[in-house]
Amino acid sequence: MHADRDTLFRHLWTQYLEVTPSAQEVHRILGDTQDSDIVNDHIALRTFNLEKVNLEKLAAHFLALGYRQCGEYRFEAKKLYARHYEHEDPTAPKVFISELLVEEFSPELQAIVGKLVDQVDADAVSADDFLYSGSHWQIDYASYQRLLAESEYAAWLAAWGFRANHFTVSINHLIRFDSVEAVNAALKAQGFAINSAGGEVKGTPEELLEQSSTLADKAEVAFSDRSATIPSCFYEFARRYPQNSGELYTGFIAASADKIFESTHAMM
Ligand code: NI
Repeated sequence: MHADRDTLFRHLWTQYLEVTPSAQEVHRILGDTQDSDIVNDHIALRTFNLEKVNLEKLAAHFLALGYRQCGEYRFEAKKLYARHYEHEDPTAPKVFISELLVEEFSPELQAIVGKLVDQVDADAVSADDFLYSGSHWQIDYASYQRLLAESEYAAWLAAWGFRANHFTVSINHLIRFDSVEAVNAALKAQGFAINSAGGEVKGTPEELLEQSSTLADKAEVAFSDRSATIPSCFYEFARRYPQNSGELYTGFIAASADKIFESTHAMM
């Protein structure tokens, strides 16, 4: 039996805050006095496309809560496939799930990732807490570095496991801000770094979605042989524009998401 939607998102948020403490500061900067205008547009989750833990396995948790599959996206350079999910309740956050196409990488990466996924108990994947259960494996620091050399995404997932990679403030709902530029300026004035890959504002009004994101916080990970402080999670900001129907666009722009992925890069 799955917990209700609010419980799931509350657990995801609590886990996210543990390694992304700057999210509280973002609320203080952007929100009104009660944070009542902070509405989550979407979360993003990452996984490997190996059978035991693939995108479908993560999506099953949302389908059980009444979500339905919507758009799909391909990221050729990063070797990712993604889908987004929506709920008929328009107040429900959208969900963006991507999976790494493991077979397209080197035999070394495939071997490391295969060993990680081998350590996952298949029953754990369908358990209620799976989406916020973190990593289910031991990995040494050299293997993390080996993954990092080939795929930042693989390294991040190996270090952090299953969790929300980001939450997203809906700029449409903010009372004091009405543009991505204004949000970026307010955050930068308070010392935040904005992901500048592909420009600080990704997307255009014509594409019906504009986005930006902070650079990931850093947090300590206990590898099997040592601890290290590495990029954790980031916060994203989205402004959606109305379609011809008058309703706000609900999809994602692959070219923008491609650059958003780089918010967890260590060298930015
Ligand atoms: Ni996003």
